[in-house]
Amino acid sequence: MSIDSSASTDTVQLDRERIRSLIEREAAALDARTQRSGAMYRRASQALSGGVASSYQARDPWPIYLTSGEGPIVEDIDGNRMWDFHNGFGSMVQGHAHPAIVAAIRERVALGTHFATTTEDGVIVAEELQRRWGLPKWRFLNSGSEATMDAIRIARGLTGRDTVVKIFGSYHGHHDAVMVSIGVEYDKIGDRENYASLPYGAGIPKEVSDLTIPVPFNDAGAMERRIERLESEGRKPACVIMEAAMMNLGVVLPEDGYLEAVRELTRRRGIVLIFDEVKTGLAIAAGGATERFGVEPDMVTLAKTLGGGLPSAAVGGSEEAMSVVEDGTVYQVGTYNGNPLGMAAARASLEHVLTPDAYRHLDALNERIVSGCQRVIERYGLPGYAIGIAAKGCVTFSPTKIVDYETFKANQDVDVTELAWLYNMNRGIFMTPGREEEWTLSVTHTDESIDAYVQVFDEMAAELTA
Ligand SMILES: Cc1ncc(COP(=O)(O)O)c(C=O)c1O
Repeated sequence: MSIDSSASTDTVQLDRERIRSLIEREAAALDARTQRSGAMYRRASQALSGGVASSYQARDPWPIYLTSGEGPIVEDIDGNRMWDFHNGFGSMVQGHAHPAIVAAIRERVALGTHFATTTEDGVIVAEELQRRWGLPKWRFLNSGSEATMDAIRIARGLTGRDTVVKIFGSYHGHHDAVMVSIGVEYDKIGDRENYASLPYGAGIPKEVSDLTIPVPFNDAGAMERRIERLESEGRKPACVIMEAAMMNLGVVLPEDGYLEAVRELTRRRGIVLIFDEVKTGLAIAAGGATERFGVEPDMVTLAKTLGGGLPSAAVGGSEEAMSVVEDGTVYQVGTYNGNPLGMAAARASLEHVLTPDAYRHLDALNERIVSGCQRVIERYGLPGYAIGIAAKGCVTFSPTKIVDYETFKANQDVDVTELAWLYNMNRGIFMTPGREEEWTLSVTHTDESIDAYVQVFDEMAAELTA
């Protein structure tokens, strides 16, 4: 069951001055408790650009450097132990150092870690993904970006077309075709019926970003009208790539009938439908969003949770979609694809960790955290709502329901979101940074960790409204 408590109740007017002074106080407290991270940052910056391995890890004045994790707990370089709700940007639904995955990796590592040939574990993982997603053919890769890059190439190879339709505000990785119309200033979006193709950062040729056309989420009519116009301009799309539930505006669930309508219109028009399940896959159900919402795409991309912390990804597709890979029309390649270590971890995860029981447990935790947070919201009259689906969820600080990028940008309270992150970090809750992010629960989380989260939220709400 997904839980969406966005029906709003009477809310208080928050004191902006108080929010700002709480942010200042909490930021100073976090600096004080993470002094070794500060020192590591100064050292790391001498060799690593910005002191980090990926710009998404950067933070002002310094990032928090972790040393270890076990089950639902992580420890930072200053020795702060925290419940992990970040879980490696949503990768560690298995929890840290899960014994079944550790054992599989240990056994595999002694047998050799890379041959650039397919191992039996890879075949078993493909068979299991085939069973869970109902898509017949699979290939492996090493990151979500590679998965969406290859899925788009396969769709282009199959259709002989270049245009890609995506959802405005969605993130699908860091290659040129999808680094378009993600987080931008509100006034640059353009008209809803005709959103702008805006490159996300420098280094993306305009000729490439112009091939990607954004449309609003939860609006199949707008998608179809845009596709009709593209067709009349001789730019019929190869594919629509989308998350079935958006996971980078907090969590935004599909409205009733939306996915079915997208499925129907893409099928009728001969456009490949790709569900990017890098975040949803294996996190919201055994068969991801595809199972949860009961709508079958032509292709699926997986990464994050698949490898249990090792860099593994997958593309699955219909016989027709994958025929261009099988007949050699499209090169789907990579030295590390199906790496033995990643496949051993993925197999152990699928066979022993992410079982039907695990999803029952995640659903129960989701129920507890969403209803707990919603009770706090109602008790203090906060403008916001709690929303969740299995391992993923968040409190959205917005007086109205977020259904797409425009409603997110116009209504989300950025300051309270920033305060909530600092507040959590100072009270033993390691949370994903960034206003677009959500929590990820793991199978090792318990009621105790959920109650800790709700308790910290309650404390913040009390201070905010005192
Ligand atoms: C939906 C979605 N697709 C693709 C990606 C890219 O995955 P990766 O960072 O492994 O390249 C992400 C990363 O956050 C994502 O959230």
